Amino acid sequence: MALIGQDINKAKGFLEAGQLVGIPTETVYGLAGNALNVDAVAKIFQTKNRPSFDPLIVHTDSIEKINSFVKGIPEPLQQLAEKFWPGPLTLLLEKQDIIPDLVTAGLNRVAVRIPKHPLTLRLLRELDFPLAAPSANPFGYISPTKASHVAQQLGEQIPYILDGGSCEVGLESTIVGIEEGKVTIYRLGGLDLNLITELVGEVEIKSHSSSNPAAPGLLKSHYAPSKEFILGDLNELVPEMLQREIPFGVLSLNKRFSLDGPSPQFQLSPSGDLVEAAKNLFDYLRQLDQSGASVIVAELMPEHGLGRAINDRLRRAAAKG
Ligand code: TXA
Ligand code: MG
Repeated sequence: MALIGQDINKAKGFLEAGQLVGIPTETVYGLAGNALNVDAVAKIFQTKNRPSFDPLIVHTDSIEKINSFVKGIPEPLQQLAEKFWPGPLTLLLEKQDIIPDLVTAGLNRVAVRIPKHPLTLRLLRELDFPLAAPSANPFGYISPTKASHVAQQLGEQIPYILDGGSCEVGLESTIVGIEEGKVTIYRLGGLDLNLITELVGEVEIKSHSSSNPAAPGLLKSHYAPSKEFILGDLNELVPEMLQREIPFGVLSLNKRFSLDGPSPQFQLSPSGDLVEAAKNLFDYLRQLDQSGASVIVAELMPEHGLGRAINDRLRRAAAKG
């Protein structure tokens, strides 16, 4: 079973030996390995049970280090980098040969980000290689936002989890690149789209296409609980469930229902704050998935700010196949 602690030297030792470590970031926990070591990278795919056509994000602590493994940062992306790093932003940049093809699934661009978490930033500063790190969950399941989530699912397979508390943002990073001269969003995430457009103007959004070859990981069904998950109008779904007498759980933005008995219900943000909702999303989904309910009913958030990224995750959680 993985040790859990805050010992950066221990984490560093395992990573230098080619082993994997769970690391905290402001978005979700990552399953990290040496990005320049093909064996460590292969271990990441194997541990997560992730198909090798789904590329990984490379993490480091400075733009200077990034420039040593990419072919440059085009102007509008440079602006985003300077403004939002460290933070929940991932950029797709042309890679140099030093980045193994396995990391990018053979694509020319590598996904890069500087995460905003004090422990992980200190760890990255002390390493002389960057870290490849997907979210630390089995492929297709809910992303982890606490060290205990990582331990529950991958604890048997890795030696160490660096415990950095609960993730501040709670949604994966927003993925941005350039296509035909246009700033393009490949995954809605923890960096609010409005902040990006304020800086670089209109953007193209490609994140909803499940067959998008530039971001093969964005499969339609993802972030999925193991229970049946139904998205809709809770004012209709809840009475329907009560009538069917099925044990069910409820996930709302801030609605409360008077339910007898053990039906668990979670409000993502009692005050309707979408930033708070994002932070709670994966933890509450996980608790519902582990509850006695056999069906989970949930509602979409308002389609603005982080609501759009939350809705993207909710739709993928509800998608079948
Ligand atoms: O917030 C995050 O981004 C977290 C933390 C740990 O940094 N990481 C994360 O990684 O969410 P993962 O592997 O769960 O999701 C990475 C996404 C995948 O959908 C993948 O397809 C896409 O990034 N991606 C990675 N490299 C890419 C590339 N070269 N081109 C296009 N998409 C890429
Ligand atoms: Mg993931």
